[in-house]
Amino acid sequence: MTDIRVLTDEAQYRAHNTLFRRAMHWGPPSDEQWAVTLPSYEPGRTLAAFEGDEMVGTTQTFGSSMVVPGGAVVPHAAVSRVGVRADYTRRGVVSALMQEQLSTLTEPVATLRASEGRIYGRFGYGLAGRVRFLRIDARKAVIPGAPAGRVRMVDQDTAEKVLPELHTAVGLGRPGQISRWPGWWARAFDRKTEADNVVTVVHSGPDGDDGYVSYKVSEDKDFNHHMVVEDFAWANADAWRDLWIYLTRLDLVDTIEVDAALDDPLAWLFEDPRVVYTKDVYDQIWLRLVDVPRMLAARTYSGTGSVVIEVRDKLLPANDGRYRVSADGAERVDAPADITIPVDLLGAVYFGDTRFAGLAAAKRIEGARFDVADSLFAGPAPLCSTFF
Ligand SMILES: CC(C)(COP(=O)(O)OP(=O)(O)OC[C@H]1O[C@@H](n2cnc3c(N)ncnc32)[C@H](O)[C@@H]1OP(=O)(O)O)[C@@H](O)C(=O)NCCC(=O)NCCS
Repeated sequence: MTDIRVLTDEAQYRAHNTLFRRAMHWGPPSDEQWAVTLPSYEPGRTLAAFEGDEMVGTTQTFGSSMVVPGGAVVPHAAVSRVGVRADYTRRGVVSALMQEQLSTLTEPVATLRASEGRIYGRFGYGLAGRVRFLRIDARKAVIPGAPAGRVRMVDQDTAEKVLPELHTAVGLGRPGQISRWPGWWARAFDRKTEADNVVTVVHSGPDGDDGYVSYKVSEDKDFNHHMVVEDFAWANADAWRDLWIYLTRLDLVDTIEVDAALDDPLAWLFEDPRVVYTKDVYDQIWLRLVDVPRMLAARTYSGTGSVVIEVRDKLLPANDGRYRVSADGAERVDAPADITIPVDLLGAVYFGDTRFAGLAAAKRIEGARFDVADSLFAGPAPLCSTFF
């Protein structure tokens, strides 16, 4: 019989972390790694599955907020460290953990990054956001014109003070972006095991600091230099452009790699748009609508007309019901449904990155008026720049 418990002390947290790491085929945390990991264990957010006295499965959440289409910010649970001991898999352990986690979450929405695409649909998570992995030919990347503001390099002590505040102010500019928790920053600034050779520059415009970028450059065996952009946030177009001018005018850099939203207009900054090459597109945000009426009401809708959507949610039946969606908002109704959709696929269409019409073509949903639904749900491509 699988017993799900909320963990409360450091020894249990470390056992939890070790179990998760082993499920991912990583070794247990070293003392140094554990010192920077411990702050990410927040009281009341860590679940473990037990068979008798043995811990056999793990999950936890980090508390944050998420931007939804239209710009509202809602409480959000970042679900992470899902793992089952290899000698206990396929016996329902993660199913028991997910059911308990979902039924006790206080946030109306949860997201996670999935190690495999087949795991989380059954728990109501849908693939809601993808990301483009870009490579830029820095030697040919020319941005005409002069910068509008000022870019200054900061040392790591300064970065540790400035970045969390600046991210809160400027990092939530797109649907899907989430606020960061103290334990996230502790790991980001872990100097002993990770943050070596990371450089941070901060941008200031007429109203003060309004953007930053952190990057790392390494040299390969042929003496080519490759930059990886680790973290990038901006409040306005001048900050975004100026920081790209800075990055592409750096000496001794051959290529730059960065994650960007599907509709990121980066290529249009350059004289030659082909200097930006999409290396890959991969799935990023798996989204679970925990409180469907609240989340449908939280976002705005574009277009004209209305649709009635019938939602089915096996794990959280309070979400079952019909919702009318129009440019005026969303509300529960007792009216015939145009579209019937399971909650994982409602998560997939929530940001507009997946289309109702596409799901219908793939025979994943039934009904009519898919084009009306797609125009209502359309919006900027989502992105989550905070890996967890
Ligand atoms: C993925 C993992 C957490 C699943 O845990 P589990 O306890 O074996 O899952 P359950 O027994 O509760 O499985 C529930 C269902 O999902 C299916 N399933 C679970 N993991 C799956 C996978 N990786 N691929 C395909 N199906 C999977 C099971 O077959 C089962 O289906 P059924 O109900 O139709 O029989 C576990 O295998 C694991 O720890 N994997 C390695 C680490 C990892 O990838 N973690 C996720 C990080 S995002």
